[in-house]
Amino acid sequence: MIDIKSENELRLISEAGRVVKLILEELKYAARPGITTARLAEKAEEIIKKCNSRSAFKGYRGYPGIICTSLNEQVVHGIPGEKRLSSGDILSIDVGIEKDGYFADSAITLPIGDKVSENAARLIDITEKSLYAGIEKAVEGNRLFDISNAIQQLSESHGYAVVRDFVGHGIGRSLHEEPEVPNWGKQGTGPRLKNGMVLAIEPMINEGGYEVEVLPDGWTAVTKDRLLSAHFEHTIAITEHGPKVLT
Ligand code: MF3
Ligand code: CO
Repeated sequence: MIDIKSENELRLISEAGRVVKLILEELKYAARPGITTARLAEKAEEIIKKCNSRSAFKGYRGYPGIICTSLNEQVVHGIPGEKRLSSGDILSIDVGIEKDGYFADSAITLPIGDKVSENAARLIDITEKSLYAGIEKAVEGNRLFDISNAIQQLSESHGYAVVRDFVGHGIGRSLHEEPEVPNWGKQGTGPRLKNGMVLAIEPMINEGGYEVEVLPDGWTAVTKDRLLSAHFEHTIAITEHGPKVLT
């Protein structure tokens, strides 16, 4: 069952979304060569506390971080640590928050410093565009995999591969609700979309092959070929006025 949220629930989810957005804006500015990913997580924690909220990730199935920081060939679920960012890196930052019982989740991928290759910049650009191509399809009457298909079409038409092992998800009263939102699929299939559904759409797009593996830390997913990966995510609501981005 895909849950339909009331107006009041949508308001609460967008309050959580506001905190997520605030954190990503702050970290976007802070993510410069020389800073550690642990320091970025500390900055996130300060804002989380100030906003009377909590990390949706810390403790989730034993995940140890406040946020996820995934560098270069890391796809998702990188754990913040003492590694310093270097010019030329690309860094995905994923933030999930619970506030007053409701959840929001969003991710961005950033170029670090001024030495990022044209290839890496293009991967970031296309991954973000694929997210928005998916969001555009999040309207009542469409099918769920119309979203998936739009993401797949856009990224594959630029020669990239869509990660299969992780998917987006419904969100609201928990971090992960039904349905799963894959980033690949057949147009015109899947459950019918309805106003009041809230989805976290999150394409993970690889420069090389789509295969990923998990490092011995049990969390960090990396590309099998160690080529670059990018990740963008928004929490969105399907409304009578069209898709509404809540993060
Ligand atoms: N955005 C990811 C998701 O919704 C991040 C989860 S990290 C975890 O699945 F630590 F909570 F697993
Ligand atoms: Co998510």
